[in-house]
Amino acid sequence: MSGHRGDEHRLDYEVVRAYWEDAAHEAESASYMAHEQGLPPGCVEHRFALERAVVDRWFAGLGPTASVLDLGCGAGAWTELFAQRYGRVVGVDASVGMLAAARRRLAGQGNVELVRGDALTVALDGEFQGVLLGGLLMYLDRADAVALLVRLGQLAPRGRIILRESGVRAGVEVQTGTYQVVYRSLQEYEALAAEAALRVVAVERNRGYAHMEIAVALVNLARRWPPLARRDATAVGGPLWRLLRATAPVTLDLVPRAIEAFRLDWPHLTNHFLLLEARD
Ligand SMILES: C[S@@+](CC[C@H](N)C(=O)[O-])C[C@H]1O[C@@H](n2cnc3c(N)ncnc32)[C@H](O)[C@@H]1O
Repeated sequence: MSGHRGDEHRLDYEVVRAYWEDAAHEAESASYMAHEQGLPPGCVEHRFALERAVVDRWFAGLGPTASVLDLGCGAGAWTELFAQRYGRVVGVDASVGMLAAARRRLAGQGNVELVRGDALTVALDGEFQGVLLGGLLMYLDRADAVALLVRLGQLAPRGRIILRESGVRAGVEVQTGTYQVVYRSLQEYEALAAEAALRVVAVERNRGYAHMEIAVALVNLARRWPPLARRDATAVGGPLWRLLRATAPVTLDLVPRAIEAFRLDWPHLTNHFLLLEARD
């Protein structure tokens, strides 16, 4: 990973947008960052199922007439789930291509509005009872991330705001190059929420992401071997994911627990859910 430590480096938002336009031809797996290592749809489905358990629990109090905002909706997996449950769902994404994938997925759903725009400035009407940011603050500089959280407090003053963000175990790392992103620690996300006058109600490690990230790290490792580096990523990602699933009690359950117990920094990236609410 080429990049900087600390949050002083500014992201180039044009490069961020260009990345997502480019990734949109494989929008479903790109939404879950499973595309570069050729991980199969089953890996994305596995991660989504585990993540859904957290979101279901935290949105359990939302009734069928609730308005829900999916900011940075990507290919619309969460938008679709919310559309089946709630009265009004708004999905927003800055990428034309990603939003087009969401439109294809959600064709015919009358209670969904899909809007192309920047999360910071897009016009949004009404009050929301639920908001999901599934990997969005990581593409914003610190000041913009705080500004967006302040905005969410105004859009959902009595609602539940869920963040799902990738990060590092300590400090802040900015990745430069064609995939620009800020990886913040959980403590840093808690600090951003406090600055935006939002209360952190709950925090949960993202097990689904941890499982996928083990696969990502192993594919990257395997592809350092020249014969595998020459092969298509899916020829490595597919079999490796099947092997991990077949050995899941050890590779996907015991290994992450041991990593946590021994405080090892592997895989380097982590991911957490945070449940926020506007302060009274
Ligand atoms: C990692 S994907 C997550 C997609 C979706 N939330 C999911 O969980 O499937 C991040 C998405 O955020 C969008 N995005 C990045 N910066 C944005 C911004 N400033 N405003 C709106 N969308 C943005 C990208 O276009 C991309 O579709």
